[in-house]
Amino acid sequence: MKIVVIGGTGLIGSKAVAILRQGGHEVVAASPQSGVNTITGEGLKEAMTGVQVVIDLANSPSFEDKAVLEFFETSGRNLFPAEGAAGVRHHVALSIVGTDRSDNGYFRAKVAQEKLIEASGIPYTIIRSTQFMEFLGGIAASAAEGNKVRLPPCLFQPIAANDVAAIVAEVALAAPRNGIVEIAGLEGAPFNEIVARYLQAVGDPREVVRDPEARYWGGRVEERSLVPLGEARLGPTRFEDWLKQSSRHA
Ligand SMILES: NC(=O)c1ccc[n+]([C@@H]2O[C@H](COP(=O)([O-])OP(=O)(O)OC[C@H]3O[C@@H](n4cnc5c(N)ncnc54)[C@H](OP(=O)(O)O)[C@@H]3O)[C@@H](O)[C@H]2O)c1
Repeated sequence: MKIVVIGGTGLIGSKAVAILRQGGHEVVAASPQSGVNTITGEGLKEAMTGVQVVIDLANSPSFEDKAVLEFFETSGRNLFPAEGAAGVRHHVALSIVGTDRSDNGYFRAKVAQEKLIEASGIPYTIIRSTQFMEFLGGIAASAAEGNKVRLPPCLFQPIAANDVAAIVAEVALAAPRNGIVEIAGLEGAPFNEIVARYLQAVGDPREVVRDPEARYWGGRVEERSLVPLGEARLGPTRFEDWLKQSSRHA
């Protein structure tokens, strides 16, 4: 099968490309570096030639509210006509669990991306994932004030990037659901506790403060805003094992 991975050089994209190539598929790892740009439209038509499946794993270079919304909207508006013209049979995209249950600029942009997918007329599967374990350092940085990191005690269930990529590859090879599937890590615990365990494991001395009023990327979160409410596929990597591995590389 011929597959295009938009954002094929990114964290999840590069792993998904490797898994699919190992499975014997012809995979184009598309990104601005390789001459495929969903914002300018450059290289899109050529990349889609003979393609059955498109996996969109691109991310906005800027997380600023307006920039990220513009990124996912422009990207969708350029991608879907190119996919339609090429007769693409399955569009897969990675979104976030709870995008419609908390209000922050990044989540709003992902909701806009999901709406464009649903309206595109291309058969699709949206995978809503919880936060990647690899994103914990970025989360700590975003919530830091000096040597304190303020986080709410809401439930948090991060998933390892390797598990996300494996599930994305599997979903892409299956029939389109024309709907949403949710994925998460094996274990859930209070957000502040997970980030504290991460910082301790990587030798970061900052203190994590449990603060029920703290926001997540500027948005208010309730106890279950960031975890799946219904059925979810769970990645097999245990947080403790991932921590051991990542602290060895820190
Ligand atoms: N972080 C989380 O916890 C989380 C949770 C759930 C879902 N997600 C979603 O998962 C997806 C993948 O995230 P990630 O962390 O793997 O991303 P990433 O590592 O930041 O990679 C982003 C990719 O997008 C590409 N890209 C940027 N601008 C582009 C453009 N104009 N046209 C085509 N490609 C472009 C980049 O290419 P270059 O290398 O050339 O710049 C890179 O390959 C995102 O959609 C994100 O919203 C993230």
